[in-house]
Amino acid sequence: MAEGNALHDKSLQATEIEADVAKQGGLLGRKVFALDCVTSTNEVARKLGNEGYPEGTLVIAEEQSSGKGRYERSWFSPPHKGLWFSMILRPQTQHDKISLLTLLAGLAIANAVEQTLQLAPSIKWPNDLLFDGQKFCGVLAEGQSVGNSVAFIVLGIGINVNHKMGDFPEELQPTATSLRIKAGRPVGRAALLSCILSSFEELYSNFNKGNHAEAVRAWEKRCPWVAKRAQIHIDNRVIEGVFEGIDRLGRARLRLVNGELAVLTAGELGTA
Ligand code: BTN
Repeated sequence: MAEGNALHDKSLQATEIEADVAKQGGLLGRKVFALDCVTSTNEVARKLGNEGYPEGTLVIAEEQSSGKGRYERSWFSPPHKGLWFSMILRPQTQHDKISLLTLLAGLAIANAVEQTLQLAPSIKWPNDLLFDGQKFCGVLAEGQSVGNSVAFIVLGIGINVNHKMGDFPEELQPTATSLRIKAGRPVGRAALLSCILSSFEELYSNFNKGNHAEAVRAWEKRCPWVAKRAQIHIDNRVIEGVFEGIDRLGRARLRLVNGELAVLTAGELGTA
């Protein structure tokens, strides 16, 4: 995309995404709904999942009016600037492995950003992607259960792609960034999406085969907090210790001051 040539990146087209996925022999993105403005792609994908749409169905929107973040925060999703999308996954696995899936999504995005832009983002547990402490991407996985089993998962991904700093609300400017700001040029969303889908597809296939070790190691390599003093915030509590990385289920391992190991499924990592 040439700087200054267009007001925004070309709108994302379902048929083009599907054709690209078919060319690569992929599963994720075989069926695509590319929409203009939705409340939240996670909500649309959940509805489609309940209607029986298969694994790999992808919902992507140019804009979200009520984009959702973790812990019921909102996710700023202005038109044409980002990649706002959700996938329906129907993994053959139990609840306790689902948190690892969101970590794999973060890893796939980091890999794709490095491959397409030669920029190496950090991952902060569980799944924030950052450059120099400023966030450009988040992942929100929501499970739909039937009894004790997971009927499907909606894996929602939000990436700030072509925002300039002035596009963010003032309150987000100290903590947010975009790929365009970091790359110093506009970034084509279709090529980035294609790379994310193929990177995640490979990780997801290994996940379904129960091969987690390599992904865990790759995730830890991208997390500069490993072996450092850290705090994990859970609800209104703060737990301090040394972050020893993640276990095979994606849970945080925090070595407490008294020498005990805390293994945490939820929370947010911060530096101590
Ligand atoms: C977070 O870091 O808090 C998670 C943000 C997840 C945002 C994405 S954008 C696409 C999908 N639809 C939503 O409403 N949320 C996720």
